[in-house]
Amino acid sequence: MIVILLGPPASGKGTQAVALCTRYGIPQISTGDMLRQAQAAGTALGKDAARYMSAGQLVPDSVVIGLVGERITADDCKNGFLLDGFPRTQAQAEALDKLLSEKQCPLDAVLQLDVPRELLVERAVLRRTDKATGKIYHLKYNPPPEGAVLEHRSDDQEDKVNKRLDDFERVTTTLIPYYQARGLLRRVDGVGSLSEVQARLFAALPG
Ligand code: AP5
Repeated sequence: MIVILLGPPASGKGTQAVALCTRYGIPQISTGDMLRQAQAAGTALGKDAARYMSAGQLVPDSVVIGLVGERITADDCKNGFLLDGFPRTQAQAEALDKLLSEKQCPLDAVLQLDVPRELLVERAVLRRTDKATGKIYHLKYNPPPEGAVLEHRSDDQEDKVNKRLDDFERVTTTLIPYYQARGLLRRVDGVGSLSEVQARLFAALPG
């Protein structure tokens, strides 16, 4: 099972990826998480990416394509994987096609989470991540347990969220017709409780 989770910033990709990956026994490949890990480790790649991420800008294609290209050769990707936040540009989508054709692995589905913009801003601004477990919470819709040490992402300030949403609408939505034309796109309503959205995503997947 090779699946792309496509959706605007804060649409619930990271939250829903956990349940999808558990169900299908595949790893989650989140380019955002990989870049944040590189940043926390202080690698040259992480430092370079941080300049773009903290400004709410996309990291250059060559960097993320390199990360994904290497990650999908790992052993745990033998039975498939879920891509969360990749591809986001036409160049990334074409690079992925090339990588998958080299592996002789077809793409099964592209799940597009639809959430209105005003809700996305609220979801991002009130998002908090548990520093110890990496779990994603929301101060209003999915409150963290008492005592959790929480992080607020620097790119979750309202002005940066709006910049990220603008980029999504301008750049990443061009991938919708790209995958639609190949019959791979499944649009899923991302508004509702976590379990309602999860059930819709499961129903949208083949088999
Ligand atoms: P990345 O980490 O991928 O950020 P993103 O796509 O902007 O997505 P988010 O992590 O913001 O949101 P999400 O959809 O995972 O939502 P979540 O589940 O957390 O990328 C960060 C940056 O890295 C980019 O800006 C860019 O700089 C760089 N980057 C990464 N990939 C790149 C690429 N391919 N190319 C170039 N640059 C790249 O949920 C959000 C909140 O909503 C949470 O608080 C959650 O609890 C809550 N929530 C979730 N579901 C619901 C629900 N149903 N109802 C109510 N609340 C909900």
